[in-house]
Amino acid sequence: MTKATNIVWHESAITKEDRLKLNDHQSPVLWFTGLSGSGKSTITVALEKALYEKGIRTYRLDGDNIRHGLNNNLGFSPEDRKENIRRIGEVSKLMSDAGLITLTAFISPYREDRDNVRQLLAKGDFIEVYIKCSLESCEARDPKGLYQKARSGEIKQFTGIDAPYEEPLHPELVVNTEQNSIEESVDIILAYLRTNQYI
Ligand code: PPS
Repeated sequence: MTKATNIVWHESAITKEDRLKLNDHQSPVLWFTGLSGSGKSTITVALEKALYEKGIRTYRLDGDNIRHGLNNNLGFSPEDRKENIRRIGEVSKLMSDAGLITLTAFISPYREDRDNVRQLLAKGDFIEVYIKCSLESCEARDPKGLYQKARSGEIKQFTGIDAPYEEPLHPELVVNTEQNSIEESVDIILAYLRTNQYI
């Protein structure tokens, strides 16, 4: 692939700040990270519904869904996961610029890749939400039967089994899904957004 040259940035007449004036809320990216089966997708679905009911504009980006389209040429090697997260970081930035609250649900196992997205976004626009759940519990839940396949060797490079997961060191929020119900988890995140005047 050859990189494009002779490309020049073209400013819009309307800025992010202009778009945010049409909102009663800010447009941060809520970056959910955690093991497969930890509850990222379930919580983001419930949270998006709760935000929508408050008249807040959102968009949800989910690993399984995005890998059907935009990222359907990527697998689960470290390089492909890096590219997966890089693209989603860029898409999230566009959504934030458009004035939406973005909810991303990706394992995003590498600290460096998540930190790169943090750097890409404006200060305060990256809210790292660690969906904490032990490997034992995720494996016991095994909602898609993937851990079983990973244990039998049918799936290779499965996060937590034969591929790494690097826990966030300083996430804005930690939600423990072994201790909190879905409703409680959503309330914790809503409280954070209110306290910090995002909504
Ligand atoms: S990553 O690591 O952020 O690039 O992964 P992500 O895009 O979030 O995709 C994770 C979903 O893909 C399914 N799946 C796997 N996960 C991890 N490792 C391997 N090898 C793998 N193969 C398929 C799985 O359904 C993940 O979804 P969640 O919702 O996390 O369970």
